[in-house]
Amino acid sequence: MGREITIKALKYNPNSKVSKAHFAEYKLEETDGMTLFIALTKIRETLDADLSFDFVCRAGICGSCGMMINGVPGLACRTLTKNYESGVIQLMPMPAFKLIKDLSVNTGEWMNDMSKRVESWVHTNEEPDYSKLEKPIEPKVADDVFEIDRCVECGICVAACGTKLMRPDFVGAVGLNRVARFQIDPHDNRTDEDFYELIGDDNGVFGCMSLLACEDNCPKHLPLQSKIAYMRRKLVALR
Ligand code: SF4
Ligand code: FES
Repeated sequence: MGREITIKALKYNPNSKVSKAHFAEYKLEETDGMTLFIALTKIRETLDADLSFDFVCRAGICGSCGMMINGVPGLACRTLTKNYESGVIQLMPMPAFKLIKDLSVNTGEWMNDMSKRVESWVHTNEEPDYSKLEKPIEPKVADDVFEIDRCVECGICVAACGTKLMRPDFVGAVGLNRVARFQIDPHDNRTDEDFYELIGDDNGVFGCMSLLACEDNCPKHLPLQSKIAYMRRKLVALR
């Protein structure tokens, strides 16, 4: 028989006039290999059908299940309950995103706004010809682009970011990482001056205080700080 663990989950429905924010406490038996996804599903099936949280892939791929776990943002489906020695785990929704209910936040709307803001698509002067294969690029460059493209838009780097708390319009490591992706992609004809127009201010690449929490907590282990430093070095000459 496994030990008893306690999950304390913040409950609040911002769309209800009567809802008050409070922690609901659930006790359950820990099973082998139990993740927070398994624990929360068990809670919803047996203790509280009203508890809201987000999951899709359950494998660290979709980026849906970010939440604050004992004060640190992480993917719930990749978090083992056994890693918490005290057996008490407090869950809260990620800050910086619009709260939907309880542990569920709207990262999609934020990511959509960020993508539009950094114009997250290839800008080319050439007329696309869909009957032809895309122009090949150097394998090393392709590797670098694919490396950055591993971002799953989970929002954890945004939730962990001290700068974002001070500057609500800060584009976040995920946004700066996205610009770095297009900056190295030879299919994109934008110049450094064009990227400067997008992120050359304190809500962009010059606002980051290099506190490193984005990189420390990114579940995909992306080299966010080196990408930010690279973009900063590129654009500081244009100031
Ligand atoms: S950079 Fe990392 S932490 Fe930030 S959204 Fe992408 S995968 Fe998540
Ligand atoms: S459910 Fe997809 S990353 Fe956790």
